[in-house]
Amino acid sequence: MQEIQEKINQYRLKFEEEAVRVRDRQGLEALRVQFLGRKRGYITKLIENLKHLSPEERPLMGKEINELKTYILAKLEEIKHNVVKTQKKVSHLDLTLPGRQIPLGAPHPLVKLQEEIESIFYQMGFSVEDGPEIETDYYNFEALNFPPHHPARDDWDTIYVEGREDLLLRTHTSPVQIRAMEKRKPPIRIIIPGRVYRKETPDPTHLPMFFQVEGLVVDVGITFAHLKGTLESFLRRLFSERIKIRFRPSFFPFTEPSAEVDISCLVCQGKDSRCRVCRGSGWIEILGAGMVDPQVLKNVNIDPEKFSGFAFGMGIDRTAMFVYQINDMRLFYENDLRLLRQFNRQ
Ligand code: PHE
Repeated sequence: MQEIQEKINQYRLKFEEEAVRVRDRQGLEALRVQFLGRKRGYITKLIENLKHLSPEERPLMGKEINELKTYILAKLEEIKHNVVKTQKKVSHLDLTLPGRQIPLGAPHPLVKLQEEIESIFYQMGFSVEDGPEIETDYYNFEALNFPPHHPARDDWDTIYVEGREDLLLRTHTSPVQIRAMEKRKPPIRIIIPGRVYRKETPDPTHLPMFFQVEGLVVDVGITFAHLKGTLESFLRRLFSERIKIRFRPSFFPFTEPSAEVDISCLVCQGKDSRCRVCRGSGWIEILGAGMVDPQVLKNVNIDPEKFSGFAFGMGIDRTAMFVYQINDMRLFYENDLRLLRQFNRQ
């Protein structure tokens, strides 16, 4: 009887050991056959061995064997449940599906263009300068040689801070020229991108807030030839090597002489008299520029007998319209992803 008792204990341990290793239905079936198989299962063998026992011992061991059998049956049922559950989980997991994409965001087309402009000027040895958007009358106008009666000072163009005659939202990036020249002495070679503000009713080509990029070079012996060379190589890099460029005489209070710079129309190359981009003229106005007025240099204590310089200013939004072929500037500010996505792969 002791022998059988030992076997029962052994099989129980063996079963427990093997049960934890079952991973799937085949493993489960093998375990069942090993213990409960009709011919060679361990339980069957145990029952067969009962006949060697005395009639008193038999029911005792029979009970023990039955208990083991019930235990094994219950355990097999439990394992079956777990196997089915994990198999269901596994079948939901399709490893061939592509991963979930996390949208990373992408630069706005205006930011992209600004960065492109910055990178071209970086390569020409310029650095980027910044300045305040709320300016004083001095930096926005006076130091830039605007006479008191100049129309740009009219309320119509300039947005003033309420109750403060001397504070305004800068109407151009040129005041940062003055701030930069006050801070450091020549040689100066900077560009100044940033927001500017004007009292405008929004329409396809006007906005009360838009972006400009300003340029300033001051050094010994700077001439109009440097201005032309710099702007020509910049515009060719930005648009195309094939564009034509022309300088028209113009006026700005802070440059003398002054010029407006046009490029040949990218869309019709001057061949379509009804072109919507250049309105048939064949030219697109891109920049204001000129040699820094000696009076402006005096205003910041730079000797105009020793130093000279050139400056230019360009509208980023306006230029973006030509670069991206968009006919309404307001679209840049509507944050419609259907438009914005067209300029980025994301
Ligand atoms: N500040 C001028 C404007 O806003 C552009 C400009 C900049 C012209 C620098 C000449 C030199 O129109």
